[in-house]
Amino acid sequence: MSKIVETKEFSAIPSQVSSRLVEVTFNKKVIKDFLKEMEQYPVQALEYKSFLRFRAAQILNNLCNGELQGFLQRTLSNREQGALLINPEGINSVEQGDDMVKIATAFVHLVGRSNFDDMTGKFYARWAVVNTDNSDSYLRQPQKPLELHNDGTYVNQVTDYVLMYKIDEQNMKGGDSQLLHLDEWEDLDKFYNHHLAKRVMKWSAPPSKNVKEDAYHPVFETDCDGRPVMLYIDQFAQPKDFEEGTYLADMGDSLENSKNKLSFPVPVGQFLLINNLFWLHGRDKFERHEKLRRELMRQRGYFSFCSNPFKPYHTLGKGK
Ligand SMILES: [Fe+2]
Repeated sequence: MSKIVETKEFSAIPSQVSSRLVEVTFNKKVIKDFLKEMEQYPVQALEYKSFLRFRAAQILNNLCNGELQGFLQRTLSNREQGALLINPEGINSVEQGDDMVKIATAFVHLVGRSNFDDMTGKFYARWAVVNTDNSDSYLRQPQKPLELHNDGTYVNQVTDYVLMYKIDEQNMKGGDSQLLHLDEWEDLDKFYNHHLAKRVMKWSAPPSKNVKEDAYHPVFETDCDGRPVMLYIDQFAQPKDFEEGTYLADMGDSLENSKNKLSFPVPVGQFLLINNLFWLHGRDKFERHEKLRRELMRQRGYFSFCSNPFKPYHTLGKGK
């Protein structure tokens, strides 16, 4: 497999799952050195002082001889790629959860800034999935697949990237991560060229998300380079009539039936970092098990490196 990048600290190759997905491995030494330098900043310090998240990013980039930042920015903004599966070697047990928060924080603050996560009141969210759950969305429910969607659909915040970290997994069967690149979706033209594609629709979240305001935006927009981007989630769309409802229902079926949907396991201690504008994500259902436990972390936010950033409709004040 030809290497995309190879430095002393990290190397990147196209994934066997798809050449659009880039697998990056960081050697144990650079991760160990990063965590050693980060000992002075506990996770609480990163929560209270947001500029320290950028310090974490700087420390990691310096340990990579300044080569990591450009690599991440290039890969995430490249329409042919835009997705990374990152393996920081040596950090793969749930007791190292705080270390994983620090690592994730460093990566995303080399490309932008994480949004406030209303579900937890922090810049990141950690949560566990167990066998029994009575929550009001499919996020925590093992027996239901989390169907393909974009993040940031029901908040009035730009959500250019999503990071999803696998912190723990016990007694798991199934539950693979799923991704679909917009340009690989067989029915993209049909739905993007439909007269409802750019109609403003209503999106609202259930109580557990702690989001009080509804969001209003179309499913599709066009980015600064004239290419389609998407902001869609099945669970929180609130179509106002038969026409919108059936358009969205057809779209949900088409996405789930796409033959180009990628499905693969993310091992404990690894994380996905994707461009949320042209990648959809989801996860398959798991098998029921009494002692099932899975813990995840997410961060999502905006890119700050683009000279001509795409601003979605609902963040321009038109959606109110
Ligand atoms: Fe999501």
